[in-house]
Amino acid sequence: MEKNKDDGSNKEQEEEQVVNPWVVSVKDGGKIDYDKLIDKFGCQRLDQSLIDRVERLTGRSPHVFLRRGVFFAHRDFGEILDSYERGDKFYLYTGRGPSSESLHLGHLIPFLFTKYLQDAFKVPLVIQLTDDEKCMWKNLSVEESQRLARENAKDIIACGFDISRTFIFSDFDYVGGDFYKNMVRVAKCVTYNKAVGIFGFTGEDHIGKVSFPPIQAVPSFPSSFPHLFSGNDRLRCLIPCAIDQDPYFRMTRDVAPRIGYHKPALIESSFFPALQGETGKMNASVPCSAIYVTDSAKQIKDKINRYAFSGGQDSIELHRKHGANLEVDIPIKYLGFFLEDDAELEHIRKEYGAGRMLTGEVKKRLIEVLTDIVERHKRARAAVTDEMVDTFMAVRPLPNMFS
Ligand code: TRP
Repeated sequence: MEKNKDDGSNKEQEEEQVVNPWVVSVKDGGKIDYDKLIDKFGCQRLDQSLIDRVERLTGRSPHVFLRRGVFFAHRDFGEILDSYERGDKFYLYTGRGPSSESLHLGHLIPFLFTKYLQDAFKVPLVIQLTDDEKCMWKNLSVEESQRLARENAKDIIACGFDISRTFIFSDFDYVGGDFYKNMVRVAKCVTYNKAVGIFGFTGEDHIGKVSFPPIQAVPSFPSSFPHLFSGNDRLRCLIPCAIDQDPYFRMTRDVAPRIGYHKPALIESSFFPALQGETGKMNASVPCSAIYVTDSAKQIKDKINRYAFSGGQDSIELHRKHGANLEVDIPIKYLGFFLEDDAELEHIRKEYGAGRMLTGEVKKRLIEVLTDIVERHKRARAAVTDEMVDTFMAVRPLPNMFS
């Protein structure tokens, strides 16, 4: 039985924290309590023994996002590893709602992690671009949503996905055929009341929204991709995503056995905090709250120096005496995501926490690290041609996707 204590929007609004695909907020600007979230959603914490197993099975050191607890929760990830160990492969499914022209660093996290999983396990990947979702929620025209999907596809491809194992699709282009049959199978299993309970729809929401969840659900089932997985109906699916997407997949997992399919497994991340501090996920409509993959070196430097919330003390004397509060310090948080060298990170934490290192020095190091990542991303994106996008998005078999 799936645990689901999520019982509707009205109740949710009164709660301390609200996390769903559309809202991430905490009362009075507090921090998200991820333990509470795990409890409320009914997922599991990703413990060290699972991380050790990943290392053993892949023969690679686990990704920074695993080592540092960025991906911190899961559903049935152990089952995926069990069957992988027995010689059964799986496929990966992730996605993006194309609501903005360019991506910020937080948007890259699931894709960077998915790329690592694809390389480490040597498995195929499907990436859903929910242009229909953003058209309905963000008041974008159909044409504009489709254009953004293609632009975003370039940024996603720039993360380095293997063209021989990756299928990227836009809902507007791909929905139909066996994918649509699965949508109808799912839709028949979910009452309106159930959808209200999971997603908090109200009588004022248009029916497009209410009808959307099956579209995000069915890429979890291999039979939705006959050109890839025909005859492979028992293939398991693993979904890397941020934890705000959990409601979609709670619904999917609830329905799956009733229509004869495996439940998809999930591996879920926390949110990348805004420059101003850790109170939710970043808001793409507040430009100075985030670093974008299109920012110049100067913009990155200015944003970090001006806006990155510091846990350092108000004066040098006080700082030398008390040290920085690492719990609230954004430069330290960001380095935790993007500085790969464990020893250097530990050194900085120690020196900064003891007051021997100043905020300015930590920010300087962060600026170097992020500028390097953004510059590399820009170069990779500039090398993505229209033909490459067409190929990634072509409905085609991937002959050697498991080898
Ligand atoms: N709804 C997601 C968003 O708005 C996009 C998405 C579709 C997705 N399928 C997914 C995200 C699977 C993670 C996993 O960004």
